Amino acid sequence: MAITPPQQRIWWNEPIERVELIWIGVAFLWGLFMFFFMIAWHFIGQQNLSNETYRIAPTAYGEKVDAFAAKYQVREEEGVPVVRPPAGADVYLLGRLWQWWPILELEKGQSYRVHLSSVDWQHGFSLQPTNINIQVHPGFEHVLTLTPTEAGEFGIICNEFCGVGHHTMTGRIIVTAKRTAARMEAQ
Ligand code: CUA
Repeated sequence: MAITPPQQRIWWNEPIERVELIWIGVAFLWGLFMFFFMIAWHFIGQQNLSNETYRIAPTAYGEKVDAFAAKYQVREEEGVPVVRPPAGADVYLLGRLWQWWPILELEKGQSYRVHLSSVDWQHGFSLQPTNINIQVHPGFEHVLTLTPTEAGEFGIICNEFCGVGHHTMTGRIIVTAKRTAARMEAQ
């Protein structure tokens, strides 16, 4: 029993008010506008990258990343391999509790096919300070073309909450201006 029962007991069966209809209409039109603007923003905002997505078993993806890292590793930083793939190569990055692995070293002005996936939970790939932001799920492999336009060090942070270590889940992409003479000799 309510403390202040409504006077009209069949309140749920009243005819709809005009002002309610207007607000339903406004909300519906706004929803439509937002929906189509998502598509428009892809073209005019240059924010959301076009990417392809494929189904893949998390273990199969893990094996691809391991093979990639073993093939192109150039050094190690704090126990994490630094991997320098050739220009145009397929590049694999792995999200897991709680890191983006391995560290990539790319060359400015070259294009790479970057593959992203997770082997455990949902993670976020947010490249700082550029505006690239991709939601990454285990079981799905995202592929996008990335062409670094600036040399420097870029951070990857996870922006999908993935547990107690979420705030520590980071990674790095190092972009070099071009191959140094010393490195070319070494190869
Ligand atoms: Cu991974 Cu948050």
